[in-house]
Amino acid sequence: MSMQPDETTLLRAELEALRKANATLEQQVLAVTSMMDAMVDEVSAKSRQLELRNAEQARMSTFITNVMDTMDSLLLVVDRFGRISQANAATRRNLGLDPASLIGTSPDSLLTDDTLAPLHAASPSFAPGTVLFRTILKQGGLKMETCLRSHLQSANAGHFMLRATPLYEHNGKLAGAVIVGTDISELRAREQALKTSEQRFRDFSTVSSDWFWETDAEMRFTVYAGPDRSGQNLIEIVRGKRREEFASSDERQNTAKWTTYLNTIARRQAFRDFEYHAHSTDIRPTWYSTSGKPCFGSDGEFLGYRGTAKDITARKAIEAELLHHRDHLSELVAAQTTDLVCAKEAAERANLLQSEFLANMSHEFRTPLHGILSYARLGATRTGQAPNEKIINYFERIHQSGSRMADLVNDLLDLAKLEARRVDFALHRADMQVLVSRVQSDLAALLAQRHITLAVDTRTSSTVAMIDTQQFHHAIQNLLANAIKFSPNGGTITVGFSDAMIGRREALALTVRDQGIGIPPGEEERIFDKFVQSSATKTGAGGTGLGLAITLEIVRGHNGTLVARNHPEGGAVFEICVPRQAPDAA
Ligand SMILES: Nc1ncnc2c1ncn2[C@@H]1O[C@H](COP(=O)(O)OP(=O)(O)OP(=O)(O)O)[C@@H](O)[C@H]1O
Ligand SMILES: [Mg+2]
Repeated sequence: MSMQPDETTLLRAELEALRKANATLEQQVLAVTSMMDAMVDEVSAKSRQLELRNAEQARMSTFITNVMDTMDSLLLVVDRFGRISQANAATRRNLGLDPASLIGTSPDSLLTDDTLAPLHAASPSFAPGTVLFRTILKQGGLKMETCLRSHLQSANAGHFMLRATPLYEHNGKLAGAVIVGTDISELRAREQALKTSEQRFRDFSTVSSDWFWETDAEMRFTVYAGPDRSGQNLIEIVRGKRREEFASSDERQNTAKWTTYLNTIARRQAFRDFEYHAHSTDIRPTWYSTSGKPCFGSDGEFLGYRGTAKDITARKAIEAELLHHRDHLSELVAAQTTDLVCAKEAAERANLLQSEFLANMSHEFRTPLHGILSYARLGATRTGQAPNEKIINYFERIHQSGSRMADLVNDLLDLAKLEARRVDFALHRADMQVLVSRVQSDLAALLAQRHITLAVDTRTSSTVAMIDTQQFHHAIQNLLANAIKFSPNGGTITVGFSDAMIGRREALALTVRDQGIGIPPGEEERIFDKFVQSSATKTGAGGTGLGLAITLEIVRGHNGTLVARNHPEGGAVFEICVPRQAPDAA
């Protein structure tokens, strides 16, 4: 059988078409494969690059961790929630804490309560556990000295200088904070040691009697410390000034001394026991002794002087006194001799007075005693023989002498009591003129016998004063008795009243003036001494010299005054002044 030609052609064409399609497909597959190869190459290159970068990052991270761990300071990284995310090995060395144990904890737990409390007090709204972190954020950083809890056996807490700063990502998002802590415990310990040694120095200087001073290179005082006994704060006064500015004006005259001192300073030499007298508007006169030595810096530059000073005012005063004594020894001896002579004379005078008194007393006592004894004997022998009148006369004489002795004894006792201030004065307002009239009538017989007139001259509106009438009666009687005793027969005694003052108190003055012999000049005070009689009356007038002494004591007891003088026209004047009112009413 044979094939149809058309059929063959058709098949050939079909085959041809198939061949072509296959070729196209093959080409496409080829293209796709090469494209895939290129992609695979690219991907593997990328992954190699990534691996490299990872390795680099791991290396960096190890490096950073190593660097962090070798740091002396504590380093903490805190995340944005305020939890520690990284801590270096210094935490173990400085605080005895495993850095790993800190991860995830709050940095607050590292602070001691004492340090945390003020931070919390400053921002009470911060929740516990976020205080340090939020303080860092709030202040945009932190720098403070603080105590951190230590778990080391050597200490409970260490002093640290904390520095912290917040961390932000480049887009501004909060990333956390980093905290660095430098241990300053040793610095603190050294500081403390320095303070202790300074305190020791201060203690020494306070118990020492010396001052300590320092100057700058210009010799101006920068320090002046020591015992502040004078009440002057010397450093406040001398700071910035030189020593020579305080020299007293006398000192300044001594140019040779100060030139030597200034030359010593100029040569930068030490000086010892330089003594000078300081006196300025701020410094009261004081003698100082001072010693000093120059100070130089580590590179030899002159820094100033440093030294001590002593207040030697007392020593100088003693020295001056000694010198004065040495120079004035002869004057001193002369003065003392004069004193001794005076004392001897006084003693002799006292002795004389004593003898005069004894002589007077024995006379005063003997006369009446003699009278008593002789009239008593006379009476005894003549009783029954002599007429009665005679016998009565003997008794009267005995009585007179007895009364005279009694008066004398009374005067002595009165004076002793007055002098011992054992008399109580009963002061009340009384009219002195009435008192004078009373005394006048007591003495009327005597006045009449001597033809003496007593006149009263009142030159005041009131003769009233605060007196003890009984005592004052005695005083006036003494003055009037004297006036009568020393007046010539037929003379006049004038009692005067006038106003006076004792200090600022109003007083009444009572004067008794006579026309008698007066008081020898220079004896106006002495006649008030007990047992003293004036040189004009010593012989003859009689009396013991007690009346004026008693009168003066009575007047003094009234806070009054009593003086004697001579009247220009002759005769003596005795003036008593007594306050008109009691002291509290005055
Ligand atoms: N009026 C007077 N005129 C002159 N001399 C007087 C007068 N009054 C006192 N004298 C002097 O002062 C002395 C002392 O007086 P005072 O009254 O103390 O003692 P007296 O009168 O001698 O003795 P007494 O008063 O104790 O009896 C007197 O002795 C007399 O020398
Ligand atoms: Mg008298």
